[in-house]
Amino acid sequence: MDIRGTGKITAFAELRAPAMSGIMLAAMPNSHSSMPDIAALARAIDRPLALVGMMGSGKSLVGRRLAQRLDLPFIDSDAEIEKSAGITITEIFELAGEDKFRTLERNAISDAADAGPLVLSTGGGSICTPETAALLCERTIVIWLQAKPETLLSRIGSISSRPLLHTDDPLATLRDLAERRAADYGKAHITVTTDQLSAAAAVAAVLCALDSHLTVS
Ligand code: S3P
Repeated sequence: MDIRGTGKITAFAELRAPAMSGIMLAAMPNSHSSMPDIAALARAIDRPLALVGMMGSGKSLVGRRLAQRLDLPFIDSDAEIEKSAGITITEIFELAGEDKFRTLERNAISDAADAGPLVLSTGGGSICTPETAALLCERTIVIWLQAKPETLLSRIGSISSRPLLHTDDPLATLRDLAERRAADYGKAHITVTTDQLSAAAAVAAVLCALDSHLTVS
């Protein structure tokens, strides 16, 4: 399934509009120095890079672009689940419930974790299931794309593909989920705050943070 149909790609793309300002640059690790040596960085990656974070944090768009920069395959766990189930995430929640979805999600992430270096975009709640958190933290480099609930909602656009946001007040739901999930996202090896960043700047920030994490440069 082409995930552009879910609105995940276009939502974050709205943030491309502003050019990289001083504030954005200040938010980027190592912004004072040049970008890392991408080829050396790619060679140092020996396992999947797993993007985690709330719905609307930009995991799919940033992940796809990150994979392009590093010349690595890109996998979206939600898209993999939909492909093998033959129905949408919303339908899985409706027909089989969230627990079943979390099992399918864990299996999809386990398959990706076995596949060597690649970029994996995970569903927002994946790291909140203890078994999935363990496999992510032990077998991948976990990168948390952090953003405020207001930013997330503005990026999400349509909530139709996000069953957890089918509530009276999606912003309040995002705030509540973000608060309850903060400790789980805090397990990530790398955190990048993306509120002020365009997609391109977020990719650059992830590359710099990854370079520091792996101490390549
Ligand atoms: C979920 C996030 C969704 C999807 C499912 C549950 C969550 O993915 O996995 O609707 O629990 O936050 P995105 O984060 O890609 O929207």
